[in-house]
Amino acid sequence: MNIRKIQAFEILDSRGNPSIMTEVILSNGIKGTASVPSGASTGTNEAKELRDGDERYNGLGVHRAICNIKKEIAPCLKALNTSDLFKVDSAMIELDGTNDKSRLGANAMLSVSLATARANAASYGMPLFRYLGGVSAVTMPVPMMNILNGGAHASNNVDIQEFMIAPIGAESFSEAIRMCSEIYKALGKLLKKRGISCGVGDEGGFAPSLQSDEEALELICQAIENAQYSTNEVKIALDAAASEWQESSGNYTLKKSRKTFSTQELISYWEDLCKKYPIYSIEDALGENDWNGWRKLTSSLGTRIQLVGDDLFVTNRKYLEKGFEMNAANAILIKYNQIGTLSETIDTIRTARHKGYKTIISHRSGETEDVCIADLCVALNAGQIKSGAPCRSDRTAKYNRLLRIEAFLGENSVYTLS
Ligand code: PGA
Ligand code: ZN
Repeated sequence: MNIRKIQAFEILDSRGNPSIMTEVILSNGIKGTASVPSGASTGTNEAKELRDGDERYNGLGVHRAICNIKKEIAPCLKALNTSDLFKVDSAMIELDGTNDKSRLGANAMLSVSLATARANAASYGMPLFRYLGGVSAVTMPVPMMNILNGGAHASNNVDIQEFMIAPIGAESFSEAIRMCSEIYKALGKLLKKRGISCGVGDEGGFAPSLQSDEEALELICQAIENAQYSTNEVKIALDAAASEWQESSGNYTLKKSRKTFSTQELISYWEDLCKKYPIYSIEDALGENDWNGWRKLTSSLGTRIQLVGDDLFVTNRKYLEKGFEMNAANAILIKYNQIGTLSETIDTIRTARHKGYKTIISHRSGETEDVCIADLCVALNAGQIKSGAPCRSDRTAKYNRLLRIEAFLGENSVYTLS
């Protein structure tokens, strides 16, 4: 199959900012459509989105990226057989010619990459997860649901960006979803009872103003209990997004509470929290450039706690391999718009799993209704997914897609923290 035509449109994401929706039409007339997300607490080494920088949408328009899809990417890909996605993506990478995809735009390239994969899957009459993963794609992920938002995702006084619950003891994915939703509701009731009124943050979690990050942990433990679950079956995961706190001196200043920590003090802070609360995972516990700190943190907590590199690895095999060398982290967050093509994303996931690093497929804080990450997660048996709270359609769309995949797989589906 070849590409007959590529169409691309400027759409809105969940924050009301422009994003790209791309439709790839193959020579057999079959279409694939995909749209791309956008982050707020982005890592420095991420592939770059191309934004217009003019007066429309405060500079965030994507007309230039769409023009690149139509005028450069479409003609370049026309002669290629789309069934080899690695070749399609490599052709775009070569055409772009930069290290960070800044010329054509990672947003433009990823939308074409995903839409091509979707069109290929549709040509074979297969769901995307089956097309990408074959018959061995059977693992339903443990959801890490972000039920309390802080940091750059909420205008409250909480410094840790994400407080998540993960029902590792659930019997199935659908049970896990039910447990998360019940705990989310219990947390809402608890906040109301304590007179803490709040809205929700970018990822659908409550965004209350609290005395401290520890108060958030206390509230979540209480909500788990109020929903009649135990902290043996439902664990807590944090995303500190600590790159946001790092200063040029190497110290960390928490922007909201204005506390300052050295690397060692911050490591001790995490050790302490892990002793007191049922935390099983911490993401970006240290900044993206603090490699020596990451090595120390991993030797201290790495056998007990999942230490996830998000800004640290930016879904890029090069930084992941540096992590292997330095014994930094033991898990990687996967966001395909950090690297800019689906095939590079798949390569990074396989590289991580080969080394025994855990993989968590993730949404971005700015999302669309696209659900490709749900399929990707099952396709690669990634094991865990972050798609925000059980609230806001941009978040629940991914969980709902997974519920349908689980039903499709029936007895063949597996739910375990692998
Ligand atoms: P972002 O946040 O999409 O704003 O980067 C998500 C995360 O840090 O995991
Ligand atoms: Zn993160």
